Amino acid sequence: MRFSAIACSALLGLIHASPLAGNSLDARAATFTNPVLWEDYPDLEVIRIGDVFYYSSSTFAFSPGAPVLKSYDLVNWTPVSHSVPTLNFGSKYNLTSATDRAYVQGIWASSLRYRESTDTFMWIGCVESSKSYLWTASGTGAKSNNGEVANWDWKATASVNKCYYDCGLLVDDDDTIYVAYGSTNIMVAQLNKDGTAEVKSQQVYTDGTYIEGSRMYKINGYYYIFVTKPATDEWVLKSKSPWGPYEMKVLVQSIAGPLANAGASHQGGIVGTKDNNWYYVAFMDSFPGGRIPVVAPITWSSDGWPSLVKDSSGAWGKTYPFPVSTSKTVPPPTGTDNFQGTSLSHEWEWNHNPDTTKFKLLGGSTGGLQLSTATVTDDLYTARNTLTHRIIGPKSSGTFRIDISKMADGDRTGAALFRDNMAYIGIHREGTTDKLVYVNNLSIDLNNSWKTNATGTVAASTTLSAGTTEVWLKVQADITPAFNTATQRTTTFWYSTDGSKFTQLGSAFKMTNDWHFFTGFRYAVFNFATKALGGVVQVKSFAMEKVA
Ligand SMILES: *[C@@H]1O[C@H](CO)[C@@H](O)[C@H](O)[C@H]1NC(C)=O
Ligand SMILES: *[C@@H]1O[C@H](CO)[C@@H](O)[C@H](O)[C@H]1NC(C)=O
Ligand SMILES: *[C@@H]1O[C@H](CO)[C@@H](O)[C@H](O)[C@H]1NC(C)=O
Ligand SMILES: *[C@@H]1O[C@H](CO)[C@@H](O)[C@H](O)[C@H]1NC(C)=O
Repeated sequence: MRFSAIACSALLGLIHASPLAGNSLDARAATFTNPVLWEDYPDLEVIRIGDVFYYSSSTFAFSPGAPVLKSYDLVNWTPVSHSVPTLNFGSKYNLTSATDRAYVQGIWASSLRYRESTDTFMWIGCVESSKSYLWTASGTGAKSNNGEVANWDWKATASVNKCYYDCGLLVDDDDTIYVAYGSTNIMVAQLNKDGTAEVKSQQVYTDGTYIEGSRMYKINGYYYIFVTKPATDEWVLKSKSPWGPYEMKVLVQSIAGPLANAGASHQGGIVGTKDNNWYYVAFMDSFPGGRIPVVAPITWSSDGWPSLVKDSSGAWGKTYPFPVSTSKTVPPPTGTDNFQGTSLSHEWEWNHNPDTTKFKLLGGSTGGLQLSTATVTDDLYTARNTLTHRIIGPKSSGTFRIDISKMADGDRTGAALFRDNMAYIGIHREGTTDKLVYVNNLSIDLNNSWKTNATGTVAASTTLSAGTTEVWLKVQADITPAFNTATQRTTTFWYSTDGSKFTQLGSAFKMTNDWHFFTGFRYAVFNFATKALGGVVQVKSFAMEKVA
């Protein structure tokens, strides 16, 4: 078959390519290293429009949800949008009280596709096993502009009272919209012409094994559904018709590498380059850091079955030839955010939907983010407007510069290592005194519907000298995978009053490797009241840097 020969020879061509011309940009390097982006972006779907690859991921109760990342080479990625600007799934997503919260619910594995005929990006996902939601962004100009999107204008377009569990969209050549979904019993539904309702659905595959995470494709006349057998395998289902019958072959099975103490690379999707070279993008369970993406080339047999290009030991390669040679670049994940402009960058996600009346970007040449207290509580897990940022691995620091001069009595602000059990360094204002504290022992309980079971213990403290208006709070995390091991990676907490000399407060926090919260540890900044609303802090900057 045509494309297999092209794919194989092109791959060999890449391997033997002469050194690429140009400069030392990462994008020009002859090989890339896995993981491609050492951050928590699970349940991925990857597509290409023109020169641009887009990547969608799940985000649970973080808001905005379902980030869209962009790349020109499948290796360097940056978040450019979120398909679900507001979690419109019910009051609990607004974090309205200690008993009305959505931890671990919300956006699970979902799907992103582009429909050329209407210039529309479509995102679909099942929430809480009962309803599926469709968000669309139209008028993006992506097709006519080589994949580039000038404006994302996501709209809540429809919801249906049916769960397309772990779904994968397909827009067929004739513009029919299908969605593959389900666990164990893999189903295909045909949607109406706008994708807003179901026309019909039927089961297309089962052999009794627990499989999920569908991704649906049409390639050279064949329909494919890629599914995962968690948390080790990726299977490929192939048929001449969307309705089956589907034959099955295993693409990867408990494949080793490319990182120690991470799970097998599985659950992901495939994408072709403009040159018709194909890649499988999967994730590895890399707790405490979450689930991080890895890329490997695939080749095709003459009868349309993909196989993974492994390294010489049969493992997922640590390095491969660069997928695309391009001079186009995206911004790096590290650096300093001064919160300039009129909206937050897409690196940021709130814990649940924020109270939009309680934060604002200050604008002007200095930027800054003002966080007013939004909740009176003694529980950070119930406080609204905690702003989170993924941690880049294997080791990095996240430093928030915060103006604390307008805090009110009883307010608590700080920099957290956010997860289902966590710690923070922060300021507790008591009367007119600012106590600088290291607090650990905050947790929510997976065995009790994620209710709060510990609101924190002050494990170290010191008093800031009177008149201190600004602090730099640094969280330094090691998210080197330790999944399924007894090893606990550590995070340390530091403060400074001049931005250059940092002092550690408290002892190292031991991170857990449990997967049940799904999302890995994150950097976070918060400001909440224990007595009354009215206090304010200004987050002047956030810097994320890799640490040796
Ligand atoms: C959540 O908050 C938003 C903004 O305040 C509001 O428009 C929406 O109605 C709330 N959702 C629910 C279900 O209460
Ligand atoms: C809270 O629950 C978590 C998860 O079940 C557990 O690890 C932790 O020890 C509990 N903490 C307290 C203080 O009960
Ligand atoms: C809590 O739930 C997890 C996952 O279901 C289970 O493995 C663990 O044994 C439970 N712990 C307790 C104390 O019940
Ligand atoms: C953690 O918090 C719980 C609940 O407040 C408390 O019972 C426990 O003593 C605390 N543990 C430590 C080590 O401080």
